Amino acid sequence: MSVRELDTTTVTALVEDAVAAPSMHNAQPWRFRFLRGDSTFQVYSDLERAMPRADPTTRGLHLGCAAALFNLRVAAAHAGWAPDTELLPDPADPRLLAVVRLSSPALPGNGLAEDLAPLYPAIRRRRTSRHPFSDEAIPPAIKDALSAAALLEGARLAFPDIWHVHTLLDLVHDAEGRDAMDAAASEELRHWTRVDTGAAETAGDGVPAYAFGPRKRHGRAPVRDFAGRRPVPGRETAAFENAPQLAILGTVDDRPRDWLLAGQAMERVLLEATLDGLATSLTSQALEWPELRWTVRDPRSAMGFIQMVLRLGYGPAGPGTPRRPVHEVLDIE
Ligand SMILES: Cc1cc2nc3c(=O)[nH]c(=O)nc-3n(C[C@H](O)[C@H](O)[C@H](O)COP(=O)(O)O)c2cc1C
Repeated sequence: MSVRELDTTTVTALVEDAVAAPSMHNAQPWRFRFLRGDSTFQVYSDLERAMPRADPTTRGLHLGCAAALFNLRVAAAHAGWAPDTELLPDPADPRLLAVVRLSSPALPGNGLAEDLAPLYPAIRRRRTSRHPFSDEAIPPAIKDALSAAALLEGARLAFPDIWHVHTLLDLVHDAEGRDAMDAAASEELRHWTRVDTGAAETAGDGVPAYAFGPRKRHGRAPVRDFAGRRPVPGRETAAFENAPQLAILGTVDDRPRDWLLAGQAMERVLLEATLDGLATSLTSQALEWPELRWTVRDPRSAMGFIQMVLRLGYGPAGPGTPRRPVHEVLDIE
């Protein structure tokens, strides 16, 4: 593909692809600045969209921003560029999460850009699916490819044994109970969910009721119920998987840089999985309680810090959720 000129239309289109990324409660905690003179994007966190109760360290916020950064790299590669990314380039400004320079075109043999561009069609197809998945097993070759995808971004993805899956499910269940008893957690969830039909149709952020999926009748799949105790007119109930296919994504360390590696790895895995025909959802509830997060890890594994739990399988795609208009998150200078 030949390189597209970095005019306003192209820059805007690249950011539109970036913001299709998943983010905690669809808060979209990112901002972008494009510096024309340097052909460089700056990716910033937007701390006004942080979640002090569920995400006091902003770890989850970093994961979402890094997923958007990964989409930006994919979109740039698809447009013919070889994106050159630097994480946390300014120690004096931790809000500046990354810069992405688009100064050179992707050339044949430039493996990095070639690896990224094929993921492009999955950016708009990837959606969180809070529906039941079938019992069809994911072939080992696909699991291996997903683990390799995580490794490319500097994180590890493992598919836990059944005993570990049951431990994970117990921990998520424990976290759900704690969340329900925690007034601040419930308030935060209410703030970021749109239950009224009007709000669900017009809000540019948050999780709309039409994306909640059915209420769980039985089954043990770890799917967060964004409705809480609130009734949602017309919402159905369904039986979910008893033995969900889970993957854990982790890093060796737990600093902002590791969170940025993990978020990019998460998005690479989600996009690869989407191309493989898998439906996906994310589960961070057990990771939001420090004492539970520690026990999510497999003690026999070298994976030091768990950053995300993914549910993968064959099932209905989730609906598209809203995004804020690009002009609200992009400055061009
Ligand atoms: C750090 C992080 C944590 C998340 N935690 C959960 C979760 O616990 N349960 C859930 O259903 N979705 C979770 N999500 C998915 C978001 O809710 C979802 O990405 C957002 O609502 C936008 O929808 P989309 O993924 O369909 O684009 C998480 C996403 C991120 C990045």
